[in-house]
Amino acid sequence: MVNGFDMARAGTLGTADDALLVRRQRVLGPAYRLFYEEPLHPVRGEGVFLFDASGRRYLDAYNNVPVVGHAHPRIVAAMARQAATLNTHTRYLDEAILAYAERLLATMPAPLSQLMLTCTGSEANDLAVRIAKAATGGSGFLVTANAYHGVTEAVAALSPSLGPAVAPGPHVETITPPLASPDPAEAFARSVEAALAALVARGIRPAAVIIDTILSSDGVLADPPGILAPGLEAVRRAGGLVIADEVQAGFGRTGTAFWGFARHGIVPDLVTMGKPMGNGYPVAGVAARPDCLAPFAELSRYFNTFGGSNLAIAVADAVLDVIEDEALMANAQAVGTALRGALEARRSEHPAIGAVRGSGLFIGVDVVDADGAPSAARATRIVNGLRQRGVLISASGPLGHVLKIRPPLPFSFAHADQLLDALDDVLAGGLDGNGSSNAGT
Ligand SMILES: Cc1ncc(COP(=O)(O)O)c(C=O)c1O
Repeated sequence: MVNGFDMARAGTLGTADDALLVRRQRVLGPAYRLFYEEPLHPVRGEGVFLFDASGRRYLDAYNNVPVVGHAHPRIVAAMARQAATLNTHTRYLDEAILAYAERLLATMPAPLSQLMLTCTGSEANDLAVRIAKAATGGSGFLVTANAYHGVTEAVAALSPSLGPAVAPGPHVETITPPLASPDPAEAFARSVEAALAALVARGIRPAAVIIDTILSSDGVLADPPGILAPGLEAVRRAGGLVIADEVQAGFGRTGTAFWGFARHGIVPDLVTMGKPMGNGYPVAGVAARPDCLAPFAELSRYFNTFGGSNLAIAVADAVLDVIEDEALMANAQAVGTALRGALEARRSEHPAIGAVRGSGLFIGVDVVDADGAPSAARATRIVNGLRQRGVLISASGPLGHVLKIRPPLPFSFAHADQLLDALDDVLAGGLDGNGSSNAGT
């Protein structure tokens, strides 16, 4: 895993948390992973900061779930108020879920006029898969080469980033995401056409392409806007649907639009969402065109015990309130643009810094070696060097060489400066020797 703690070191660190590492492995088993060479143990969060037990403060430039900030008082109050009043499920009448659905759908193009609620992004994608199969009669899916779409059996099979052991099966074809090339939109469309042809050659009708509209796990491939449209249209021509996975890109993060798909000028047939939707409370969902949803509803009823509960809706509604009232999308655009500019400016001073990509407060930075080749080793040093200096980011991309900067949206210009100062310090210490030894506190 990119940016992972080597569990073989558990019990050898000589830190206060060493016993926890051993106990964790014993009781949670071997499938979990931890970030950083020295795992982080936060005990409190507030705004864009996490605090450990010693009171040390970490600037959180990574977590997108707390989109309006950790422990936001308005979210906490909405949660407590609703929990103290009523918390049931969607088998009873409730006005708040309707008002929320209307409010959320108003942020989308008109054809996407119905909303179904789940608890997690994985469930949302799993449901979208079922809806797409019912709507098209097809069973084939297209996903990008290093996609991640979740944990259920159906969507793990659509997540090549989980590695070759999670076999995609004959109903899945991978497509090459639009990488830097003279005509990336055209190259993407050709990859889609080839994947569709491969499905058809196996006698499989396409049901959908599912695409993370910021291509996060493929390395944060945000630009240029519009690049995805021709390829996605090719899927439609072949009878498949377009599922936009907005679990990472959605809810204003990309700055110029509330949803990542809008940057690309596409109107998906289904939109899945989750993570930031409840600022940490598990609420997720699928927005759909009614004609896509109808065939699924004819085949099956739908009930999700916790999906769309009174509590989930109260929290989700409060999240929209705060995004609006604190103008967080505009902040993402302003601070994100400045931060990308400052990172870009460092390219000439620091040869390890390669291309800078992104939109709003979703930023990817290539880290390269002396020959300009992708360098996961250097990216790992930067990620861990920043962690030692109290700034949290991570790395992504198929080669693990892309710095992933994706903070809560109240991230300010001053926070961006703090990140840049820490980055300069890490880079000044060198990335090829024992660079982490000069870490500040
Ligand atoms: C793009 C994308 N889709 C889906 C998921 C799955 O969401 P969840 O972990 O809430 O099931 C994730 C989670 O990381 C994601 O990044």
